[in-house]
This record gives sequence, structure tokens and C-alpha cells, in this order.
Amino acid sequence: MRKIAILGSTGSIGRSTLSIVESYPDRFAVVSLAAGENVDAAFEQARRWKPRIVSMATPEAADSLASKLSAVGIRPLRDMEIVFGAKGTVQVATIPQADFVVSAIVGVAGLEATYEAVKAGKTIGLANKECMVAAGELITAEARRHNKPLLPIDSEHNAVHQCMRGGRLEEVRKVWLTASGGPFLNTPKKDFDTITVQQALNHPTWKMGQRITIDSATLMNKGFEVIEACRLFHLPPKQVDVIVHPQSTIHSMVEFVDGSILAQLSVTDMRLPILYALTYPDRVESDLTFPVHELKRLDFQPPDMEKFPCLRLAYEAAEAGGATSVALNAADEIAVAAFLAGDIRFNDIPLTIQAVLHETKARHPESIKEVLSMDETARSLARDKVARLSGKTGRPALA
Ligand SMILES: NC(=O)c1ccc[n+]([C@@H]2O[C@H](COP(=O)([O-])OP(=O)(O)OC[C@H]3O[C@@H](n4cnc5c(N)ncnc54)[C@H](OP(=O)(O)O)[C@@H]3O)[C@@H](O)[C@H]2O)c1
Repeated sequence: MRKIAILGSTGSIGRSTLSIVESYPDRFAVVSLAAGENVDAAFEQARRWKPRIVSMATPEAADSLASKLSAVGIRPLRDMEIVFGAKGTVQVATIPQADFVVSAIVGVAGLEATYEAVKAGKTIGLANKECMVAAGELITAEARRHNKPLLPIDSEHNAVHQCMRGGRLEEVRKVWLTASGGPFLNTPKKDFDTITVQQALNHPTWKMGQRITIDSATLMNKGFEVIEACRLFHLPPKQVDVIVHPQSTIHSMVEFVDGSILAQLSVTDMRLPILYALTYPDRVESDLTFPVHELKRLDFQPPDMEKFPCLRLAYEAAEAGGATSVALNAADEIAVAAFLAGDIRFNDIPLTIQAVLHETKARHPESIKEVLSMDETARSLARDKVARLSGKTGRPALA
């Protein structure tokens, strides 16, 4: 029986993980959950799964969860511990009873707990790519020290992980990460300034959380994935290529030195990579079938780095690593939030990130504390840039 802690249980990946647990009651049990502020969803999950401990992002959310649970006869402290904040998330991630941690909090908020889980010797199912972008070098070093796998849940890296089982790392010529191209693949660049939040949230193939959906529209998500692939599979950026594949049927490919290319195909359903990670190294029967006979065409084209400068910025950060990579994620997080709030335009997202990278000194953090401090510096630069772009400083907005 695999005993699971879920970080980000109320999110898209968290809920899909729980649906897998529901389908395989003899294989998996939930021992702890961490959520943000969605008290209603956390309440339903706590009531259903009876974990030993639940963490919420704020004390208010934790209090509210505790009173809802009391009202249905679940006594906080006695039956279930309710904690909160970054410390609470770490408690959920390092609970001794869990042997597997699903890391699916969005953004750098999930970093400390993911790192502490690796340090505590847990096996990680990794969805949170931002923590690999910000601190991939530190996390992979720690996982190697404990000889524990980091099992990617991100569909592309999960596909690469599967294909990598067909050869040795030194036999890899190249990794091909496929990209759907997002909703603006065929939108002319001249129209990018008028892209609305609604349009950007309308992803053609996947239903995901808001941050990753906007990141998919700017191709920053693919950029993050390039960095994640470099860190997870110990490859330099020049060995990780992006190819636009609008059908999202092939989730990624690995090309070996003899010229063979292995690809992984499956339905576009995140439950499959989650199931793979949870059952690795075994495979178990599932109802997730792909209708091969309906497969009519597979299209590919190179990404347009002029139209999607976020991808170019991510390659630069992949090369530089350290503080540049931390700043890439931090600046993107602030810029995406500002776009979602209607404060800046779609085109301002890469402008903000570029400005922050420009002002970031190349350094390599030696601890998570240092990563978090670099993250804070980059956020403050990004907030400043956003304020200028949105004209909220009282100064005129920049073009
Ligand atoms: N969705 C996908 O298909 C997909 C695919 C590949 C990779 N990923 C990656 O997986 C991660 C999660 O994505 P998602 O789409 O599941 O996002 P999501 O639906 O927005 O869910 C995010 C989760 O993080 C929690 N959270 C946010 N801030 C928190 C904080 N300060 N402390 C504790 N929990 C916090 C949220 O809690 P509340 O809702 O309670 O506030 C929610 O449970 C991201 O890193 C994303 O890039 C997602």
C-alpha cells in the first residue's frame, strides 16, 4: 500500500490524484493533504479521506476548516490535525507515515515543502515545475543523495521518463518536448496586444489551473519544461528541443544516438501520468485507452521564438541557471497575476520578465533559503515593472 501526501490537493492535479486513489483503494491511501484557501473543497476532501493532517495556506482558512469539521463530528487535534502556512505544508510533506508525496501546489509556494520531502527521503511525484525551475539543481542533488526517484507528473516529462527506459542517458542524442502551441498558435503577432484574459484561458487541449494555462498561451510553460527537463534528466539545454504538435497526441519523444526515436502517445488526461508515477516501476491496468484507429494525422512545426519571446528567455535562463532561473519563475508569476487581474497586457508578460532578468545578477544559490531570498528580490523588481507598465505608479505607462 502506497501512503500518499498530496500538496495542492484542491487543485486540478490534486483532484485528479484523488480520483486515482479512489479507483485503486487496495493500492493507495491518503495520509495528509495541503491546500491553499479553498476551504469548501478541503472540507469535502478531509471528510472523505480522513487524513491525519490537513494544512491550509492561512490561519483563517485553517480555522474555518476546523469549525466545519467540528460541525460534522470530526474533532480537530483529536481526529485530525489542522495546521497552516508554509510550516504546515512542510508538516504535511514530511509526515512519517507518508512514503510518496505528490507535489502539486502551484508556484514557488510549493518549493520548501517539496525540498523538505526529498530531504526526508520520500519518493516524489512532481507536478510543480516551478520548483524545478527555481531550485532544480538543489532538489535533484538531494534526491540523488537519498537515492530516491523524482517521478515527473508533467505529461511531457512523464513521457520522456517512459521513453528513457528504452536506453541509457549517455545514449540520448536529444529530447523533443512537444507543445500544443496554445490558443494563439495561429494568431498574428500584431493582434497580441489586444488578447483578453478570457481568450488566453481558453487552452485548446488541456483543462488546467489559471497560471499554467496563461503560461501555455505565452509558451513560458514550455520554457519552464525545458528547464525542468534539463534538471530532471541531467541534460544541457542544447539537447532539449521544443516542437509544436497541435494535436498533443505525442506527449514527448527521446531521440537516441543510433537515430531511433521513441515517442509516448496516450489520451490527454493527467490521470495517466499520475498513475504512472504512483505505481512506478510497475504498470497497472486502467480504463484510459487511446483510440489509435481514430488517429488521422500528426502535425509538427518549429516554435516561433519571435512571436513567443518567453520561450527564448527560458532557454537563456536554462543556460544561466541559478538566480536567473529563479528570477524567470518569480517574474512570470507576478506578470501572469497582473495580466489575470487586468493590470497589464498579454505582451507585457515577456516585457516584465525580460526587464527582471536584465537586472538579475548571475549567482548560484546554495540553499532553499537563498533561493527564496532571490525569489523575493525578483518579485519586487517585477512588481515595480508591472506598476510602471500599468501606469499605477502615477508615471505614464511604457509602450
Ligand atoms: N493541471 C495540469 O494539467 C498540470 C499539468 C502539468 C503540470 N502542472 C503543474 O502542477 C502544479 C499545479 O497545477 P494545477 O493546474 O493543479 O493548479 P491549480 O488547479 O491552480 O491548483 C493549485 C493548488 O495549489 C494550492 N495552493 C496555492 N497556493 C498555495 C499555498 N500558498 N499553500 C498551499 N497550497 C497552495 C491551491 O489551493 P486552493 O485551490 O485551495 O487555493 C491548489 O490546491 C503547477 O505547478 C502546474 O504547473 C499542472
